[in-house]
Amino acid sequence: MSKVPEKLKGDPETTGHSWDGIEEFNNPLPRWWLWTFYITIVWAILYTIAYPAWPMISRATPGILGWSTRADIAEEIAAAEEANAAINTKLASVELASIAEDAGLSTYGVSAGAAVFRTWCAQCHGSGAAGAVGYPNLLDDDWLWGGDIEAIHATIAHGIRNEEDADARYSEMPAFGRDELLEPAQIDEVVNFVMSLSGEPADASRVEAGAVVFEENCAACHMEDGTGDREQGAPNLTDAIWLYGGDYDSLVETVTQSRFGVMPSWTTRLSEAEIRAVATYVHQLGGGE
Ligand code: HEC
Ligand code: HEC
Repeated sequence: MSKVPEKLKGDPETTGHSWDGIEEFNNPLPRWWLWTFYITIVWAILYTIAYPAWPMISRATPGILGWSTRADIAEEIAAAEEANAAINTKLASVELASIAEDAGLSTYGVSAGAAVFRTWCAQCHGSGAAGAVGYPNLLDDDWLWGGDIEAIHATIAHGIRNEEDADARYSEMPAFGRDELLEPAQIDEVVNFVMSLSGEPADASRVEAGAVVFEENCAACHMEDGTGDREQGAPNLTDAIWLYGGDYDSLVETVTQSRFGVMPSWTTRLSEAEIRAVATYVHQLGGGE
């Protein structure tokens, strides 16, 4: 057992706790500490009254200052919109072809358009606009519907084969196999002919018969030489750039079933300035005419 030392005169009061002879003094807390502590309590109460704090069933108490992160962001967006209002109005009203000649306007269009593209277009056309099977590459100069700024703008504004927009681009390749417009043997022939157009190895014994089938059934849209027709969105079949694949099986599938690629129209979702910005962006990607 340790020996409790004798209490000396002038020592502060103890709490009576003692460990191995070490005693706990009963000193009052320092003033400055105590006041800081009280101030933090008052601060916390005022804070929860002023700002959103206590979670309730559906949302937190709003606080009498009415502050919220959402309102903050809305304010920031409104400020950014206001700052861009003049250039957006200009972008939406000038001649489309003149956008490229105005350096300030086209720089703005390209950067605003890139943001629109990332949000609305990348799911289908890829984040770098290189496309995928069924979704055209927008980087090259191979255009289904035309690559000048007016054509690109019209495609984006109204979409393709989209029933909701009366101005959408429209054309429909017949499903030659499914609707029994051609026999399987004729499809085999015409597919071999199509392969020969872009220099793919094809069965030479079928190519000649395929040329006849092509002329009678396909040339109206894809043109006699197979170079396609932008009026009808009929792809060029001679350039070895394929939307749906250029191997034998993919081609048989295309001719048998048709494809009917659909692109949404954007006039209902985006402002005219946004559509023009993204058209400017797409136009300068490399294939713009
Ligand atoms: C739901 C998928 C989808 C989305 C989203 C989409 N597109 Fe498309 N887009 C397509 C398809 C499919 C085609 C090709 C249709 C066809 O066969 O003609 C196409 C074609 C195009 C063309 C025509 C290319 C050419 O060769 O003529 C342009 C330009 C284009 N899209 C731009 C855009 C832009 C810009 C956006 C965003 C605002 C966008 N697309 C969003 C599916 C989409
Ligand atoms: C009424 C016009 C029309 C006719 C007729 C037509 N096509 Fe097409 N063809 C199109 C269109 C439009 C597309 C674009 C496909 C899509 O997205 O729907 C297309 C796409 C294709 C493709 C896909 C190209 C690619 O890049 O993947 C091939 C191959 C093709 N056609 C071959 C033919 C052959 C062969 C015939 C005749 C047996 C034919 N087409 C007749 C309009 C036509």
